[in-house]
Amino acid sequence: MPRLFLPAVLITLLAAGCADTDTVDAPAPADEGAETGALPHDVHSHARPAEARVTHVALDLTADFAAQTLAGTATLSIETAPDAEEIVLDTRGLVIERVTDADGNALTYDEGNPDPLLGAPLIVAFPAGTERIVVHYRTGEDAAAVQWLGPVQTSSGQPFLFTQGQAILTRTWIPTQDSPGIRQTYEAIITVPEGLTAVMSAEGNTPDGQPAPDGAGTLFHFQMDEPIPPYLIALAIGDLEFRELGPRSGVWAEPQVIEAAANEFVDVEAMMTAAENLYGPYRWGRYDLLVLPPSFPFGGMENPRLTFATPTILAGDRSLVSLVAHELAHSWSGNLVTNATWDDFWLNEGFTSYFENRIMEAISGPEYAAMLESLSRADLVGDLADMDEADQHLHLNLEGRDPDDGMTAIAYDKGAAFLFTLEEAVGRARFDAFLRDYFDAHAFQPMTTERFVAYMDRELFADDPELRAQVDPEAWIYGPGLPENAAPAESEAFARVEAQAEAFASGTAPTALATDGWTTHEWLHFLQALPADLSTDQMAALDEAFGFTETGNSEIRFAWLRTAIRHRYEPAFASLEAFLTEQGRRKFILPLYTDLAATDWGRPMAERIYREARPGYHAITSGSVDAVLGAPADA
Ligand code: BES
Ligand code: ZN
Repeated sequence: MPRLFLPAVLITLLAAGCADTDTVDAPAPADEGAETGALPHDVHSHARPAEARVTHVALDLTADFAAQTLAGTATLSIETAPDAEEIVLDTRGLVIERVTDADGNALTYDEGNPDPLLGAPLIVAFPAGTERIVVHYRTGEDAAAVQWLGPVQTSSGQPFLFTQGQAILTRTWIPTQDSPGIRQTYEAIITVPEGLTAVMSAEGNTPDGQPAPDGAGTLFHFQMDEPIPPYLIALAIGDLEFRELGPRSGVWAEPQVIEAAANEFVDVEAMMTAAENLYGPYRWGRYDLLVLPPSFPFGGMENPRLTFATPTILAGDRSLVSLVAHELAHSWSGNLVTNATWDDFWLNEGFTSYFENRIMEAISGPEYAAMLESLSRADLVGDLADMDEADQHLHLNLEGRDPDDGMTAIAYDKGAAFLFTLEEAVGRARFDAFLRDYFDAHAFQPMTTERFVAYMDRELFADDPELRAQVDPEAWIYGPGLPENAAPAESEAFARVEAQAEAFASGTAPTALATDGWTTHEWLHFLQALPADLSTDQMAALDEAFGFTETGNSEIRFAWLRTAIRHRYEPAFASLEAFLTEQGRRKFILPLYTDLAATDWGRPMAERIYREARPGYHAITSGSVDAVLGAPADA
């Protein structure tokens, strides 16, 4: 337990204690923490911020591609309670060489027992009045945030490095307090091999650095002056080119990809304008994208000023750019107003999924947005079918679990459905004004579910208890399933698609179906709407008519490959193997291996492909697949 200091600290600790007892997942009584500014306890961090907290991180790191290490120093500015004597940092697998004060005097420190998930606390003792501590360190062998790619894994044939901090992996490359409620500004000096470019989620991204003082490599400077949760500190190094998209937006990618990327993302500036018209000014200066090599484990990651994105959204026809709308929306929901703990993850992703839909409606029209909403609803309904009831609450209890377990359709799709339902209840104009004020009033602050509910009650329902009862937020937030009052998610375009799927089921040849002008989303819905049992002839006829096996659209290919596994449709298996080997996006990889592993014939095939492909995956993807197939003995 932290020691007690002043009354103010006492209040903080008591408030944290309240949150601690909130393990029955019942609504908390009041607007917890809002008055005192107290942070709720984060079960995924060792930090004790009421005692001493990090406010700024200054990195000086060298990327050594041969040794596969980031090595150097992290200078942490700290704020301490009056008689605090130590600070607790999060680390996982870091090699700590020494810790000093800003003048280089050694400080004593202790590395606690490592927890496999949370890592080890690094407890640094300091004399009264210490404002900065310097940790000399390098990353260890299993730095899970970091992926080092060799020349064969990139399109440039040059090495590449990228980091992925969310949810609790920043501690595998930076010793800091790795909790989303502990916001920190940062700056960095990154030294890279000559010829490569470093970019970060910060100001300072330029194609050319300056020669390192000792002549070894190139040096890049970065600075993030807004306090951000540490999971948003991100670095990438590679053979990178930049292309402008608009006055405050652009895209980075390897030279072989930059053209396709710039073409795919032409609408970014329009998305920014649409987002600002909805919920207020964009507060981060620039919005750039970085297209990563195909092993990037996510579709996108909302690193501030520089969204990281998978190349699998480069469909060539801009049909998958709602992902950009999503990551851009996080510039408000997530990056400005941040889930205080991972139990509140829906505040990041549910709000963002709703906001994403609104941006797409603004730039592509209501029918397009309705298709997206309908697909989201189908994902939710599908996932609910085999999910524990306790995991179906918007507010989660992830104590003792990997926060990644919270990355389900609940946070995203049920979260968005709740906001659509609120919108329907209070009317769009009021709901938009409410959200705009919410982002503004809580900018750069952590947000808990309880605090959101208190704010909503005050701003939306103070005069209308009946309307509140009708919405029944508790059923959404603390109850399972999709509540019956959910706003409907219907699409007329999809009704037409369903009619074609039915026609096919009753014998119409695929070539005779009315599919002209279908967008990616209509094709995806068509694949969903097909009968569960198709004959090999039917599969072959579909494939011949529509070229699903060979499609360059990753979402359609993924949906088709799942159908192919379900029907053991062998003509698609070469494509399946290529898809599992050529990219590492977990959303695609994990279900395909899982589907294969569920069959007698597929399991050996999955194991064979995985043995080959695993070394190319990021640790986030291989960690998830290991849980299904087991880690190969020689891994
Ligand atoms: N922030 C998430 C990615 C994430 C969540 C990483 C939790 C680690 C832990 C990002 O904004 C996201 O949601 N990405 C989605 C795409 C989106 C369009 C639903 C993805 O990667 O699939
Ligand atoms: Zn997201």
